[in-house]
This record gives sequence, structure tokens and C-alpha cells, in this order.
Amino acid sequence: MREDTKKAPGGVIHVVGARPQFIKLAPVAEAFTSLGIPFKVIHTGQHYDFAMSDVHFETLGLARPDFHLGIGSSSHAKQTARMLEAIEEVLLAEKPALVLVYGDTNSTLAGALAAVKLGVKVGHVEAGVRSFDRSMPEEINRVLTDRAADHHFCPTANAVALLAREGIEGVLTGDVMYDALLKFSALKVPQPYGRPFALATIHRAENTNDRSRFLAIWEGLTLLARDLPVIFPVHPRTGNMYPEVISSSGGLQAIEPVSYLTMLAMVRDASCIVTDSGGVQKEAFLLKCPCVTVRDTTEWPETVEAGGNRLVAAEPRLIRRAALDMAGAGVPEAQNPFGDGRASMRVARFVRERFL
Ligand code: UD1
Repeated sequence: MREDTKKAPGGVIHVVGARPQFIKLAPVAEAFTSLGIPFKVIHTGQHYDFAMSDVHFETLGLARPDFHLGIGSSSHAKQTARMLEAIEEVLLAEKPALVLVYGDTNSTLAGALAAVKLGVKVGHVEAGVRSFDRSMPEEINRVLTDRAADHHFCPTANAVALLAREGIEGVLTGDVMYDALLKFSALKVPQPYGRPFALATIHRAENTNDRSRFLAIWEGLTLLARDLPVIFPVHPRTGNMYPEVISSSGGLQAIEPVSYLTMLAMVRDASCIVTDSGGVQKEAFLLKCPCVTVRDTTEWPETVEAGGNRLVAAEPRLIRRAALDMAGAGVPEAQNPFGDGRASMRVARFVRERFL
């Protein structure tokens, strides 16, 4: 932890820790800076190696975090407990007026819980999102974080409506991930994989904890690779659990996790995407790349209703068929439910009005 940080009683602290949270923080930090709102950042260390963490700070214009807690991987209970303890220590020293947490990870829950127990106000960015699948750790994190939070910044009208059903009033800001996408895709970086290709990412516990399920998904991607080259950036969780499967390649090109800028370029250029990631489903929709999501539920039903995303079972032939069908059909024109690219500024203005 940094020793020389000045105390900023009454300031704002952002808690992040996993890859998608660095991406969400980028436009919010920029909006805070442009309005002159002082803030500090806690990085829990949930994601910790270069490709999952540092590269994002380097490429998204983020300053080094003020506090790096170095928690790392562990069981959910141990990881969350260590975060709670370490975040509390920082909050006690810093005495912020507001803690902002992002999305649905263990870092989100730990940040919210540590703050609310100290009587510090909590804002949840990406509030109200639900998959209604309580076997997902992310769903538990979302629901509990929304219960603990004081201010709920919702990415979609659907999220506002879902929160209202739980008796919680959300603020419709739009999705800060759309802000990030607009900002960084405008840079038009090239991607090194030519065309055509399919892009695949699989890392969620529900798809990796059960070996037979993961092998079925892998076989589906292998079948698809006979028709279309498949590029698979390997999340460390998947890489650590199935090194021998991934190195066998099966016609797939397994690569290291890429930077957000390269990922956007790959989503833009891919013929289709096969994923279980929440963020990638949205990015596919917004960049008009047909998407197949290997899950029973999604927290982004808007993308399915618009015809740009299809849920598919972990069954090899179904995965191949769905990917080829979607690649052929493309993404229909649809209204964008994720806002107007100014969500971060709305969060920043709200914070300035209430807390400065
Ligand atoms: C987490 C989030 C998920 C989010 C995802 C994005 C939870 C419950 N889940 O899942 O919501 O979509 O991040 O990536 O918080 N690892 C490394 N190096 C790294 C980072 C991680 O090797 O730099 C490995 C760890 O050894 C572990 C896995 O990746 O195997 C991390 O697991 P976990 O902390 O649960 O996070 P994710 O599975 O990434």
C-alpha cells in the first residue's frame, strides 16, 4: 500500500480489481478528471498479471492505482474476506465520502460491503443487471451489492425496471462500457489476424468447473474451426485449468489475453463470436458482430431480443451450427439500449452534485 498518499477526507474512492473493471473505470475516471472531482483508486489485485491488469492501465490512460492490495486468487470466501479486510483499512485511513464499485466481481462485493459497514456511501456502476441464475457467483455479487449500495447507476432501462421490482430506485445513466467502446474503437487500431475468423472466449465458472462441459464447448469450437479459423484468447482461469486441452489446439489458435484495444478490433472484424463473457456480448452487439453465448441465461437480454445474440447449450454440434447461422445472418439494425456514450459523465455529475 502506498505510504505517501495524502489524506483526502470526504473524497471518492473507486474500487476495481478485475479486467472489465479497469475498462469501466477508464471513462469514469476521465469524466471525474474533466469535472475536477478528486478521487483515488483501490486495485484489489483480483487480476494481477501483465495481460489481465497492467496492460489495461498502460493502454487505457489510467494512472497507477493509489492502493494496490495484491490479494490474488483464492477460494471465493478467502479472496473476498482478504479484500474486505484490506479495503476496510484503506477506507478507515482515507475517510471517503463515497465508494464507487463496478459490475459484479468479488472486488465489487468486497468494496460495497467494506464501505457500507463503515457507514460510507456506496455507488454501484452497472446496477440492476440480473441473469436470474443464482448458481453464478456474479449474480450473487450483483444482487448483494445492489442491496448494500446507496446509489444505483443503471446501464439500461431494463436494469432500472428490474431494480424497481426489488424496491430500489435506479438512475438511468447508460452503460459506461459503451462510453469506453466509443472512445477506444475510434482509435481504429488494426488486429493481426486477417479475415475471416471467429473469435471465442470461455472462462466462466459455470463453463470451466465441470470438465465434461468444458470439453463439449471445446469440441464445438474445434468443429467450427473446420469452417472458419477460430482465435481463442485464453483467460488465465481457463488456461490454468485445461493446459493440456488448450495446447492440443484442435485447429483453434489459442493466444494470450489481448489488450482492450486489440479486442475491440477483433470483435469489429470477426465473422462471429462464441463467448460466455458479459462484456463481450455487449461489445459484439454494439460493433455489429453476431454473437453466440454458451450459457443458459444472460444478464444482457437486450442483445438477444435485438437478434444479435443467441444463447446455446454446451453441445458441440449446436455451438458450431449456431455460430455459422449467426455469421451468415449478421446483426439486424436495432435501437441501442446502452445509452448515448455519456454515461460516465452522468455518474460524475451526480457525484459532483451530491458529494462535493
Ligand atoms: C472474474 C469475475 C467475472 C469477470 C471476470 C473477467 C468474479 C466472481 N468473477 O472472473 O465477473 O467477468 O473476472 O475477467 O469475481 N488469473 C491469473 N492471472 C491474472 C488474473 C487471473 O492467472 O492476471 C487466474 C487466476 O489464477 C484464476 C483466475 O484467473 O484462475 C481468476 O479467477 P477469478 O478471480 O474468479 O476471476 P475470473 O474467473 O476472471
